[in-house]
Amino acid sequence: MVSGGARLEGEVQVTGAKNSVLKLMAAALLAEGTTMLTNVPDILDVAIMSELLRRLGCEVVRGDATVDITVPAVPGHEADYDLVRRMRASITVLGPLLARCGEVKVALPGGDAIGSRGLDMHVAGLEKLGATATVEHGYLVASARQLTGAPVWLDFPSVGATETIVLAAVLADGTTTVDNAAREPDLVDLCEFLVAMGAKIGGIGTSTLEIQGVAALSPTTHAVLPDRIVAGTWAVAACLTRGDVTVVGGRADHLEIALDKLTSAGATVSTDGVGFRVVMADRPRAVDVVTLPYPGFPTDLQPMMLTLNAVADGTAMVTENDFEARWMFVNELARLGADVRTDGHHAVVRGKPMLSGAPVTAHDIRAGAALVLAGLVAEGVTEVHEVHHVDRGYEGFVDSLVTLGADVRREAGPEPLF
Ligand code: UD1
Repeated sequence: MVSGGARLEGEVQVTGAKNSVLKLMAAALLAEGTTMLTNVPDILDVAIMSELLRRLGCEVVRGDATVDITVPAVPGHEADYDLVRRMRASITVLGPLLARCGEVKVALPGGDAIGSRGLDMHVAGLEKLGATATVEHGYLVASARQLTGAPVWLDFPSVGATETIVLAAVLADGTTTVDNAAREPDLVDLCEFLVAMGAKIGGIGTSTLEIQGVAALSPTTHAVLPDRIVAGTWAVAACLTRGDVTVVGGRADHLEIALDKLTSAGATVSTDGVGFRVVMADRPRAVDVVTLPYPGFPTDLQPMMLTLNAVADGTAMVTENDFEARWMFVNELARLGADVRTDGHHAVVRGKPMLSGAPVTAHDIRAGAALVLAGLVAEGVTEVHEVHHVDRGYEGFVDSLVTLGADVRREAGPEPLF
């Protein structure tokens, strides 16, 4: 329940990145023994990944922003549909389990609220490394007695496919190169974690990775990098509400294009030793946005930028290149009075001075966060239904909003985990 009109002011702390920690947890499967992660966010997806690892025979102990994962000599090799369907990132266990066990059976996640999300590049990459893969009864089943390094080219710099190939190649026999690899900071974090475990990876952070397989990896301790999408969400929230928010722990260098867009919208962005600050005095100006793989504008911040443009001065074109179904969010924003027309990959947004509060429904994590932000600039009360999606990726979202001065109340409790 959001009452519009408040100006957000103050400090907010950014937690560890969802899209990094889930991959690090899956990567822990590569080494027998106890891996320790710090700066772990308290979000639902970490609980789901913890449960998945437990079902694979691992011991998982959650502490205050930490998780210790003890992996047995021979982990299980099957990830069930009831977990994979709830969290697509469960498929990250594919590469590690294939490398460790020589076989793996992972339920196909199917589509989700943001699009069809194929696995073809994951599978093609593993086949290049010598695996055989089939689909049986809704499961992707892959096996390889010994993975062998090979050159792999990706049609598109898919984050997930790059991860799957790297996570398999680190224990392969020989050298793998991945061309057109994703360069997201989360992937850099994963590669640095693997190197700390003893992997040999060159070209980290570039679009060509070179992985020399090693015989075994050792557990390590690693701090999860700060969540750039959460940091970006707070940055847009500051701009949207004509506020003044310091994002403590936010990495401005991971958000260069996004922060530049906010500057074009009229915000002042400054950085210091602790993070970055976004100050906005006037109504935002409309800004065009095109989502692209990193370092382009992140698709996960597109719903927030669409919201910003919905109340901006002028007309903007927002282009979504990653996930075709992200426009489902537009229908919800329209319920708040936004003037948005979509055509293919493009949305034309004509800004209005204010939105108008109404009941709306969140279909995914980012749309959920963006709808709450939209409620902040809507006259009257906005009820965001199925807000539990936000719990998957944002720790203490409502509490942080209240601390910054928003009039927000959580009505529904968190969704039961199982
Ligand atoms: C990850 C992030 C997600 C982010 C996205 C893009 C996690 C848990 N999720 O998702 O938040 O929005 O990166 O930055 O880290 N594709 C195929 N075939 C494949 C692989 C991908 O067609 O084999 C398509 C997908 O359907 C999608 C696009 O490529 O349309 C991008 O996918 P990808 O980069 O792999 O994103 P994810 O890893 O799924």
